[in-house]
Amino acid sequence: MAKVTIDGISIEVPDGTTILQAARMIGGDIVPPTMCYHSKLKTSGGYCRTCIVKVSKGSEKDPRPMPKPVASCRTTVMDGMEVQNLTSPDLLEARAGVVEFLLINHPLDCPVCDQAGECDLQNLAYENGKAGTRYEFQRREFERIDIGDKIQLHMNRCILCYRCVKTADQVTDGRVHGVINRGDVAEISTYIQNAIDNDFSGNMIDVCPVGALTDKTFRFKSRVWYTKPMDAHRNCTKCSGKVRLWYKGEEVLRVTGRRDQFGEVTDWICNECRFDKKKTSDWTIEGPAHIDRDSVVSANHYESLKALKADIDRQRNSLPHGQKVTLGHGALDPNNQ
Ligand code: SF4
Ligand code: FES
Repeated sequence: MAKVTIDGISIEVPDGTTILQAARMIGGDIVPPTMCYHSKLKTSGGYCRTCIVKVSKGSEKDPRPMPKPVASCRTTVMDGMEVQNLTSPDLLEARAGVVEFLLINHPLDCPVCDQAGECDLQNLAYENGKAGTRYEFQRREFERIDIGDKIQLHMNRCILCYRCVKTADQVTDGRVHGVINRGDVAEISTYIQNAIDNDFSGNMIDVCPVGALTDKTFRFKSRVWYTKPMDAHRNCTKCSGKVRLWYKGEEVLRVTGRRDQFGEVTDWICNECRFDKKKTSDWTIEGPAHIDRDSVVSANHYESLKALKADIDRQRNSLPHGQKVTLGHGALDPNNQ
């Protein structure tokens, strides 16, 4: 075991744990943001640098600080290591620099982007970004490409995190796309634009942290914050069948995989569940989806209303006839979580 201290909070973790995993075990605001790391994808991480932290003490044996910020998703802890994230102004400045680099080519077209409202880069830019840009050169521009009939690639928005490549490699059989070229001409391509056509290709949409890969069956149908996420399942022979349905009124606008509190997909789902099952009758509804992260998309107030109703029912049943229940201040406010 190794003892690591992150922003003044200590935890003992098994040897081989990364700083990021240790921070996630502690939880809360000290967890560094991630764009390219995904816990379900082997060898992911190490591309985007948003998860950088400052190692102010290397270990008990060698207490020298590390000379520059390190990627927490790729650096394993040492016994006695001390790490700074939010408590280091230098580190926050460095992360703002990373965000500035990520935004060099990424257009700020959030008002017309389907990913708006659930985009990791939008959140990161809001929290760490600068109001202006110092970049004076021509930005990279690409035509939109249809990858098969259900997925569209808008390369202008791609931050080259490699998540979709690793998903195609590890979740689907027979990857036909990847990153071609290097440096500022690197791009995601299917090479001679082969259509990606296999049962699990839709998962690439879910892992894309920005709006580069989007679901063509959902494009421009609604802003995500007007939709209501519900967890649902069905008996599926190809995947777990555990999904999230996004409703607008009675209509299911899209089906996605479920995500954990770090925004990472928990179950890979097949294209049949994702693209072909868009009727409520196809699914067994479990209830409002719990969204852990800060997000404009949250159905959590329905959960609190459910808990409130249960509370009122409980009190009503145990109160003498005619006695009224007094609700706490703001108890019926749907935004009160
Ligand atoms: S298309 Fe999306 S998932 Fe693929 S490398 Fe670009 S940003 Fe990452
Ligand atoms: S999340 Fe660690 S480098 Fe991208």
